Amino acid sequence: MGSLTTIQRLSEFAGQSVELQGWVYNTRSSGKIGFLMLRDGTGIVQSVISTDDVSGELFGTFETLTQESAVTVRGEVREDKRAPGGYELLVNGLDVHHVAQDYPIAPKEHGTAFLMDHRHLWLRSRRQHAIMLVRHEVIRACRDFLDNNDFVLVDTPIITPNAVEGTTTLFAIDYFGRSAYLTQSGQLYNEANAIALKKVYCFGPTFRAEKSKTRRHLTEFWMVEPEMAYCDLDGNIEWAEQLVAYIVSRVLETRMEQLDVLERDVSRLEVIGTPFPRVSYTEAVDMLQKAGIDFQWGGDFGGGDETILSENFEQPLIIHRFPAAIKAFYMKRDPDDERLALGVDILAPEGYGEIVGGGQREDDLDTLTTLIKQNDLPLEDYQWYLDLRRYGSVPHSGFGMGIERVVGWICGVPHLRETIPYPRTLTRLEP
Ligand code: 4AD
Ligand code: MG
Repeated sequence: MGSLTTIQRLSEFAGQSVELQGWVYNTRSSGKIGFLMLRDGTGIVQSVISTDDVSGELFGTFETLTQESAVTVRGEVREDKRAPGGYELLVNGLDVHHVAQDYPIAPKEHGTAFLMDHRHLWLRSRRQHAIMLVRHEVIRACRDFLDNNDFVLVDTPIITPNAVEGTTTLFAIDYFGRSAYLTQSGQLYNEANAIALKKVYCFGPTFRAEKSKTRRHLTEFWMVEPEMAYCDLDGNIEWAEQLVAYIVSRVLETRMEQLDVLERDVSRLEVIGTPFPRVSYTEAVDMLQKAGIDFQWGGDFGGGDETILSENFEQPLIIHRFPAAIKAFYMKRDPDDERLALGVDILAPEGYGEIVGGGQREDDLDTLTTLIKQNDLPLEDYQWYLDLRRYGSVPHSGFGMGIERVVGWICGVPHLRETIPYPRTLTRLEP
């Protein structure tokens, strides 16, 4: 009996006997020698079964195995440079737990709609596996960066009476006869938490009833949102760029194997470092116009505009100071130009779109009251939020970073549907 271990740890067991619990990725047999590609959720290893080493009965059992059958395999770990992963297993024992029915995802090309319908199974494939591991690392890096910099994780509610990011993308729910919404962002509560605890973050699912079909929009996505008291727009930008750079360096440090599976051009990630280039909205409009795009000052950048802007830079691009009219009600006006709001967006390179949105918050009671009214929001629902401007109001700022957008960029996967285990979009609710 060998030690029970996992494929990702095989290098620690070279020359020793181990036991692996997993599923059959595929098999091939010459009648005397069989190859079983075993996956166990941590990796894939080639297992070699020879009639010289095992009984005819066991070899016969091996030959009945179908793709995704569940098995325990015992054998000796042998280093083999040619084998995928650098190690293979010389099998001397095999237990079959379940012989799988005809598996719908064969190792051939399938259309995306078919794969999305079988998302619960598609997650077992090498490419999806790699994306999920990068996603895990991105999330871990966010938490480590913020925790190591004294940010306190304070959870914000998912069911809320307040709109944060406009009223057109709200998911309404019936809350015991009252109307409530699924949260679009934890920001408003984050602001209260920052006044209570100085530097905070929330991290959770957020919801937007996005009625357009694009590759960059999900209706349910995960967002990490730091918020800092006594912090202005410039301080906010520095936190955001440091977080993004940290995430990239962490993934490069720990997930090279997965980036390789994804055939990502890592040279585009290796150059990422702070400071990121900064342009004002007005300068960005100028860049678009010079590129021959018919874009008027005052408009919001579309996906195509963002791609053109980001293509001029190898680093993520920081855009700041937007027309107040296109930004959310809570943004502080630029004291140097009342038409502008102190907002910031960060666009990923290579056309992967906006990964960060945030800004400095309006901290004056009267100004904020006026802004809430101008945006036709029900003032009574925002009294608690206005309290933050009644009791100890200070300059404060924060931002939200969309996890799926960052994963998409780092993995080189342009469509967000592959960056989250179970995507929700305008046209997809299952599985
Ligand atoms: O720019 P947004 O709307 O900003 C906010 O929600 C602020 N309240 C955050 C804050 O300041 N605390 O969204 C932030 C980020 C975007 O930059 C993008 O990365 C992501 O969230 N995002 C989406 N990701 C996937 N699908 C969608 N529909 C998204 N909408 C925004
Ligand atoms: Mg935004």
